[in-house]
Amino acid sequence: MTDTYAVIGNPIEHSKSPEIHAHFARQTGQDIDYRRLLAPLDGFAQTVAAFIAAGGKGANVTVPFKLEACALATRLSARAQAAGAVNTLKFDGDAILGDNTDGVGLVADIVRNAGVPLAGRRILLLGAGGAARGVILPLLEQAPTALVIANRSAAKAVALAQQFAADGPILASDFADLEGPFDIVINATAASLSATLPPITADVFRRATFAYDLMYGKEPSVFMRFAVQHGAVVRDGLGMLVEQAAESFLLWRGVRPDTALVLAQLRA
Ligand code: ATR
Repeated sequence: MTDTYAVIGNPIEHSKSPEIHAHFARQTGQDIDYRRLLAPLDGFAQTVAAFIAAGGKGANVTVPFKLEACALATRLSARAQAAGAVNTLKFDGDAILGDNTDGVGLVADIVRNAGVPLAGRRILLLGAGGAARGVILPLLEQAPTALVIANRSAAKAVALAQQFAADGPILASDFADLEGPFDIVINATAASLSATLPPITADVFRRATFAYDLMYGKEPSVFMRFAVQHGAVVRDGLGMLVEQAAESFLLWRGVRPDTALVLAQLRA
């Protein structure tokens, strides 16, 4: 019996997740079917219910349903609870387990794939939306010297800094008051979607600052181009996508695929 999984979002047609999970399944010899599932904007819960009724074993959840997935889960992992968002669901009888593998995926891509340690470093995180919130706890677990959050709406950055105050050295800052340079700058704003630069200045970078954009595309983002111009080493979010997928696969199937191979194939 082939087990069925899906990635649920709206829009969903450009998702690379089916391709990634097909690579994982071949590599590990797991018999799974993984498909794209478009949910109506007002019909996420119904789409999940129908998928479970049809025998679905688990799902990845993407924009704009990560908060709804969190509300729908009957049990949450600690990291999903901290993130307040869910990107991975596992169905088990009547139970729906919600997990969030985005943050560990980001950390794995930076530390393991890019070879950039986070311990003892000053990190700047741009943005305070769902994407930012999902990565804060895993970043703090790496023991940076400081994690500074900057957001256009400053109150959201302050709220996040308060929420995670007990988990590590976290601070909120206005964009205007940022005291650079930073060792690592992570763009978790949605600015790249509209091809705009978050309101940072060149002072946040020094030579060889590591600049990471959670977004990925065929071309480097405006943020990545700006960072390179000011001496940074840059990386897009494709590796994070592969790593978060591998963590989901591990949760569902109990085996962790070799991500390096798949990432190299996707880049090619
Ligand atoms: P996501 O789930 O992608 O994080 P979100 O929760 O809507 O989406 O959050 C979007 C984030 O990108 C927010 O931090 C937003 O800043 P505000 O809270 O001030 O709105 C940020 N953002 C979006 N467009 C931006 C831009 N052009 N410049 C800077 N920040 C931007």
